[in-house]
Amino acid sequence: MSEMRFVPAASEIAREAGSILLNHLGRVAIEYKGTADLVTAADRASEAFIVGRLRQLLPTHSIVAEEGGGSEAASGYRWYVDPLDGTTNFAHRIPFFAVSLGLEFEGRMIAGVVYNPVLNELFAAEEGHGATLNGQPIQVSKTAALAESLVGTGFPVHDRRANPNIHFYHTLTLGSHGVRRLGAAALDLCYTACGRFEGFWEFNLKPWDTAAGSYIVQQAGGTVTDMLGQPHSVRSPEVLATNGRVHQEILTLFGEIFAGKTSELPSAPAYLEARGGQAR
Ligand code: IPD
Ligand code: CA
Ligand code: CA
Repeated sequence: MSEMRFVPAASEIAREAGSILLNHLGRVAIEYKGTADLVTAADRASEAFIVGRLRQLLPTHSIVAEEGGGSEAASGYRWYVDPLDGTTNFAHRIPFFAVSLGLEFEGRMIAGVVYNPVLNELFAAEEGHGATLNGQPIQVSKTAALAESLVGTGFPVHDRRANPNIHFYHTLTLGSHGVRRLGAAALDLCYTACGRFEGFWEFNLKPWDTAAGSYIVQQAGGTVTDMLGQPHSVRSPEVLATNGRVHQEILTLFGEIFAGKTSELPSAPAYLEARGGQAR
């Protein structure tokens, strides 16, 4: 098998960026990009390091980076950089976050690396080499029924009032082992790739959230589409990533939810009334 071209360098960069994040953990002030959209000095320090190293190593590659440090270049290569995926976790000292680097060539993903520095878990994939976790091959789970599945989702920080995800969350909670909301989309995708989750979905994601993780899921044998089953691209804000085996079952449920055929969310006043109006 030929050598991997980009994963070795991207892994080294992600590991160093991960050390920068760990050095900042518990020592940063929260700043706001929007009402609930947080950023910290760690996001910026990690991004400055990653962008600087990519420019030095691959000066002809374009870079799209979340905190704005990217640049356009001549070749067909484009990196999508999330210097800290899971900023809200990080800002609250919850040790679940990652660095994510995805590489596209002429509009097609060809490599991705997602690194969780707390658990020292490095997920990677490159064209022709499959997907790995710390160098060992990974595959999506073989579970074929949603009722036997654990799935993940997220609630984005933008356009929160317009987000219909609570209906999806409710329905999938009732039909599976449960829904986890871990707070780092890149890791949610990688958890699907390595079979910890059977699937993950979220509305309103950005290219840097999904580029690497969705590619890793596909290279691990999974399926990635939008909420209606159309192929996913890094520019698509919706992502449904699964082990492939439960994909159609979830799409069918999503179709029912979009058609308004959902079980009603339970009524809080009715709940309170049923227990005599008293707090227990
Ligand atoms: C966020 C995380 C989170 C998801 C949000 C993303 P950030 O990325 O991935 O899990 O629910 O939609 O914006 O801001 O921490 O890089
Ligand atoms: Ca992110
Ligand atoms: Ca981020």
